[in-house]
Amino acid sequence: MSFAFGIGIGTQNNQGEWLEVFYPQPIMTPGRELIDVVETALDYKGGNQAIHATAEQLTQFANALRQTDATDQASLAEKAANSKRPVVVTVLETDDTASSTPEVYLKLHLISHRQAKPHGLKLDGIFGLLPNLAWTNEGAIDLNELPERQLKARLDGRTLEIKSVDKFPQMTDYVVPKGVRIADTARVRLGAYVGEGTTVMHEGFINFNAGTEGASMIEGRISAGVMVGKGSDLGGGCSTMGTLSGGGNMVIAVGENCLIGANAGIGIPLGDRCKVEAGLYVTAGTKVALLDDDNKLVEVIKARDLANKPDLLFRRNSQTGAVECKTNKSAIELNEELHANN
Ligand SMILES: CC(C)(COP(=O)(O)OP(=O)(O)OC[C@H]1O[C@@H](n2cnc3c(N)ncnc32)[C@H](O)[C@@H]1OP(=O)(O)O)[C@@H](O)C(=O)NCCC(=O)NCCS
Repeated sequence: MSFAFGIGIGTQNNQGEWLEVFYPQPIMTPGRELIDVVETALDYKGGNQAIHATAEQLTQFANALRQTDATDQASLAEKAANSKRPVVVTVLETDDTASSTPEVYLKLHLISHRQAKPHGLKLDGIFGLLPNLAWTNEGAIDLNELPERQLKARLDGRTLEIKSVDKFPQMTDYVVPKGVRIADTARVRLGAYVGEGTTVMHEGFINFNAGTEGASMIEGRISAGVMVGKGSDLGGGCSTMGTLSGGGNMVIAVGENCLIGANAGIGIPLGDRCKVEAGLYVTAGTKVALLDDDNKLVEVIKARDLANKPDLLFRRNSQTGAVECKTNKSAIELNEELHANN
């Protein structure tokens, strides 16, 4: 049983190196029959391989696929045979560390298509395989070739618009998963997992290998590796601490029905039904005064000891400045009206 499969239309630079790949119909655990056809039509020899396929090979591949149940892939292969852009057929036998750009793009697609969950795929080493590119209205361009392309566009009477210069493209240029609203599409990277019913407002951001399980209102930042549970609300400008650049080594997550207030932040994973006061950043080492229902001090502990615990309310005492934690008595409910249009 193979791990993943995709027919992709990509971009190469003048050296013939892959820059990016678009997989319209990636699949997890492709059937044996499909892989057998890849072996015969495309000379696939097993393992993890990204095969640059010619038009002739793709026509044969499509014809062979027609004899199987994989009719969707057959019609994609048939269309790909007429592509003006290079086509790659990628087979991952196992979820090993990726060794090529097309392999990385297949993994990122699987997450954004909701076929794999963040943390569900091996993504180590991907930065070295993702070239930093100019993402333009004419597609991805190698930065070394950019000045020439800009000049050519101007000489032809056009302007080359550069949307971003980055290793990751925006997700919506590759897939728009069902039932989401994304106010500013540049704020969600390919490889994000955007759960059904999620709204990402302009201030919201979702990195790769991160996302939301289901209905959520995201007006803050979901860092790489962070997963937000159903029904949780990330307030305007709030932050979830990532582990990529000097963050702690605890994997941050947000439970279900949580509220992280505007401009607040978390450096510990929250359990279900937790709230963080607007403006309060709770880091793992923050000393927290635990209060009982009468606001009496029970003990002082580090926030990391409260990781994953449900029903907590964190606030900074506006008179003493001490960070306090109480039992959260009013679990939040997402504003129904805001979500009615998803
Ligand atoms: C922390 C928070 C959840 C508390 O809200 P709440 O549970 O409704 O609490 P209240 O404001 O009703 O306050 C309850 C009591 O605690 C006190 N209190 C609240 N915050 C306090 C603080 N930081 N320090 C000291 N006392 C505080 C209130 O004065 C009140 O006292 P009382 O019982 O004597 O009247 C709220 O202030 C908050 O920050 N919400 C986030 C909202 C947000 O940012 N949404 C996203 C928008 S984009």
